[in-house]
Amino acid sequence: MIASKIIRVCAGTSKRLGRIFKVCRVDTIMMNKAAELLARSRFAVAFTGAGISAESGIPTFRGFNGLWKHYRPEELATPEAFRRNPELVWEFYRWRMGLIGKAKPNRAHLALAELEKMGVIKAVITQNVDDLHREAGSRRLIELHGNIFRVRCTSCAYRENLKDSGRLESFLREEKLPSCPICGSLLRPDVVWFGEPLPVNALDEAFRLAERSDLILVIGTSGIVYPAAYIPRIVKDRGGMVIEINTEESGITPIVDIFLMGKAGEIMNELVKRIGELMK
Ligand code: OAD
Ligand code: ZN
Repeated sequence: MIASKIIRVCAGTSKRLGRIFKVCRVDTIMMNKAAELLARSRFAVAFTGAGISAESGIPTFRGFNGLWKHYRPEELATPEAFRRNPELVWEFYRWRMGLIGKAKPNRAHLALAELEKMGVIKAVITQNVDDLHREAGSRRLIELHGNIFRVRCTSCAYRENLKDSGRLESFLREEKLPSCPICGSLLRPDVVWFGEPLPVNALDEAFRLAERSDLILVIGTSGIVYPAAYIPRIVKDRGGMVIEINTEESGITPIVDIFLMGKAGEIMNELVKRIGELMK
């Protein structure tokens, strides 16, 4: 049992062609241990954040070059901002929808979908709105913060998934404010903004999954936005293991059993291979 003992990967540096490259080498022993724990788990779930989509070219929220370094959340991602200036908020969301619409799932998304097919991962709980887990083939997916390709009416129950309805491209070309085809009111992105509650059903399901999990694989999240950040803590409090993949330490790191430092795509690619070998 290695619980409560954090195993870390050390990062070194190497000089090549006069430039300094940071080498984040994940130790083979740790990687094997993580693979073993996942292969042996009874009910493992994944919990993901913006870092898993970084290698797909989608900016994260915090950290170097993070989205919130360039845009102020209170001006763009709050209900007050939307009431004050819906044109600005829609301009921002149309830009993000366009950017995310071009992105493809990376090896980390694909590896998680593969692990679900293998029966290792039972569900993916994500804070991301980018739809890349679904595109990668994840089936049991809980989206805690909504989905950027869905719009909903600010007055009635109308909801539309612009990818499914085939209207995404024309929607992005339009410049006027989008209105509801049923009642004519303003449409808004179906995502959770700062200060808004999370969708009750998604949060309930995520908490229920966490309560029955014996292992959670946390990938690419700063782990500081609540209530989502409770999820790994629930697993830990109930005696489950926490494995984290991140390029740096996060708010979750103090409770992890195994910390794999590095890029999600690279580490997940390796991890899924090792789990495959163990399960042969
Ligand atoms: P953050 O931007 O806060 O954190 C991204 C995390 O990913 C950081 O810990 C990075 O170190 C890590 N990271 C970056 N690149 C990585 C890579 N290639 N591989 C692995 N890890 C990498 O994003 P979230 O934690 O998802 O909420 O943010 C949580 C919530 O805050 C978001 O869902 C959003 C935001 O405000 C809402 O919109 C409601
Ligand atoms: Zn309506």
